[in-house]
Parts: sequence; structure tokens; C-alpha cells
Amino acid sequence: MKILKKVLFIGMAILLIIQIPFFTPEKNQIKTDGLRIDITDKYEVPMNIQMDLYNGCYDCHSNYTENYPWYYHIQPVSWWMNLHILDAKKHINFSEFAAYTSEEAAEKFDDLRKVMEDRSMPLKSYLWMHDKARLTERQYQRVARWAKAMHDSLSVANGHK
Ligand code: HEC
Repeated sequence: MKILKKVLFIGMAILLIIQIPFFTPEKNQIKTDGLRIDITDKYEVPMNIQMDLYNGCYDCHSNYTENYPWYYHIQPVSWWMNLHILDAKKHINFSEFAAYTSEEAAEKFDDLRKVMEDRSMPLKSYLWMHDKARLTERQYQRVARWAKAMHDSLSVANGHK
């Protein structure tokens, strides 16, 4: 019983300490506008697709997370979110998409088609709290079709197929 109390006390103390703002990671709000490496700086993105991506994906897959929830400031939530965003951007970052080589971009478009086809993005844990990011059946299909067309035309340009 004594041990349990000690463990509880230490646990509470740690929880309190990590609430200090010093431990909150910097927000993902990085300016890259001037660099002209956004996906739209190089590729044709129809407005409706752009809106689907913006509403569904940009909080994690861009350099600007717009919708930080109020509970972001409660630890360890911000660490967990921050890791998700870093991980997501490693896979695909729409704000820096134009900086990928065309081989890389072709691969990314193919990944994009895949996640749309198996409906694995946006992440389920994100959809619980963000209704706006929910894609309809039609939106999944049109993003998948666009990604496939982009992949195919890049592959031809890259000399594959
Ligand atoms: C809440 C954050 C979040 C949102 C929102 C989100 N993603 Fe992701 N995404 C991730 C994370 C984390 C990974 C890497 C780990 C994984 O694959 O689950 C990832 C991986 C990916 C990958 C690479 C998958 C692979 O197999 O290599 C693609 C493509 C992708 N996301 C597309 C999208 C698209 C398109 C949207 C919007 C419709 C979206 N994501 C929305 C967090 C997110």
C-alpha cells in the first residue's frame, strides 16, 4: 500500500511538471511561402481536390497546422500530436511537395492513391475530433482518381511504362 501511494505521488508530480509550457513543443506553423515549394507551385491541383486535402490532411501533412485543439496544451497530448505531425510530414508534406524529385513525387502520388482507396487516411483518432476532415465516398474517389492521373503522367515523363 505504501509503495502504491509513492508511485501515485510520483506519477502526479511528473504529470504536473510536464504541464510547464517549456515542455510544450513548438507549433507546426512554419513559413515556407517565399520558397515556392508548395504542391500548387509545381502541380495542377483542381480547387475541389485542394479543398479536400486542405480540410482532411493539412493539419498533419503540411507546414501549417491550423486546428490545434484546446487540449493541445495538456501534456502529454502535445507530444503525441507533435510526433504524429513529424511522422506524417516525413511521409508526405504538401507544403514542400514541389521540392521532391519527380521520381519521389510519382511515388507519393501512388501512396496517396493507396490511402484513399483503402480509406486509411485521415487517421481515425483525428476524425473523432474533427468532423470537417471526414471525406465522403465521392471525395475519396475523386482524390484517388486525381492522384492516379498525376502518378501516371509523371511516370510517363520519368520514362517508366
Ligand atoms: C492526424 C494526423 C493525420 C492526418 C489528418 C492525415 N494523416 Fe496521413 N499520415 C499520418 C501519419 C502519422 C502517417 C505515418 C504513419 C502511418 O502511415 O500511419 C501518415 C501517412 C500518410 C501516407 C503515407 C502512407 C504510406 O503507406 O506510406 C499518406 C499517403 C498519407 N498519410 C496521406 C494522407 C491524406 C491524403 C490525408 C487526408 C485525406 C491524411 N494523410 C491525413 C497522419 C495524418
